[in-house]
Amino acid sequence: MTETTSYDPAPPDIVRAAYGELVVGDLESARWFWVNVLGFVVTAASSSPKALYLRGYDELTHHNLILTEGRTPAAARLAYRVRTPDDLDRAERFHRERGCRTERVPAGATRGVGEAVRVEDPLGFTLEFFRDIEPAERLIQRYDLRRGGHIARIDHFNLMVPDVPASYRYYSSLGFGCSETIEDEDTLYAAWMYRKQTVHDVAFTGGAGPRLHHIGFFAHESHQVLHVCDILGSLHEEAHIERGPGRHGVSNAFYVYLRDPDGHRMEIYTSDYYTGDPDHPTYRWSVHDPRRRDFWGHEVVESWYKEGSAVLDLDGTPRPVSDSRIDESAVTVGADGLGIIRREPGAGTRTVSPPGARS
Ligand SMILES: [Fe+2]
Repeated sequence: MTETTSYDPAPPDIVRAAYGELVVGDLESARWFWVNVLGFVVTAASSSPKALYLRGYDELTHHNLILTEGRTPAAARLAYRVRTPDDLDRAERFHRERGCRTERVPAGATRGVGEAVRVEDPLGFTLEFFRDIEPAERLIQRYDLRRGGHIARIDHFNLMVPDVPASYRYYSSLGFGCSETIEDEDTLYAAWMYRKQTVHDVAFTGGAGPRLHHIGFFAHESHQVLHVCDILGSLHEEAHIERGPGRHGVSNAFYVYLRDPDGHRMEIYTSDYYTGDPDHPTYRWSVHDPRRRDFWGHEVVESWYKEGSAVLDLDGTPRPVSDSRIDESAVTVGADGLGIIRREPGAGTRTVSPPGARS
């Protein structure tokens, strides 16, 4: 961890981003995309609610994605696993102290998941903290079963938020380290923050929010990213490919962004790096460096900056969306939409200490 400030009350000890629940309009269409095309493993299905519990081939836990059929496509909640049962109490106290609405739910409220604490966080997202979850068979060497994108595990959540510095401060207070940022002299445009020892468990994209930008899933090899694109092309379903494949500057990951039948965005992501040393630095990218979002300088499509999934509160009601305070896309894409890129001599990556006191 790079954050050294202590907080009172203490935050929960978060292990990693663990699963997301997406509300989809038609579960069979969602099954086609997530299971048939992408190759997620179905751990369980339920009829009330009508839902699928999915996981990747490496996962040791019951699910890393829940698809629930509902009227309005949205992100219902994002879940983090904590280290001990006492961390549920810490999560509750920590958020009550900040004036957040909290709710304790019994084991089984989510299929396979033990007792949990749910909160409406200061950014407007519904989070769940849990310790216990039913184990699942790790299928990493069942090559005979693998299909689609060979999805291994969940990697991260990416959140669209109007106020990136406030998001950075909240997640710093939860004990997250910061691996990379996009910024200029005055503005923090984006940040990548972690608990597990990778580039991130959560990232912030400046935009109207709160909305879910995407959930990122890890694959082991870049050709698995490419294979999904070939499958979609063969099926004449190429419209599901929104951006990429490509190489990120931030994180170094090889990636592709896909949109599911309801418009939920997912990323298949591979080959980022280790961040576990205690003095791991923060890499700060200039917003004027066209390599930051794509290392080969390919333009980012406008929909990627502008569109995201609504998020639900604890009652299942969509949260109101506030306009963004910043527009990173306007820095790299001209007002005429023709993709004018501003280049500055020497713009690139700098390695410096984390932007702890930025606001
Ligand atoms: Fe991502």
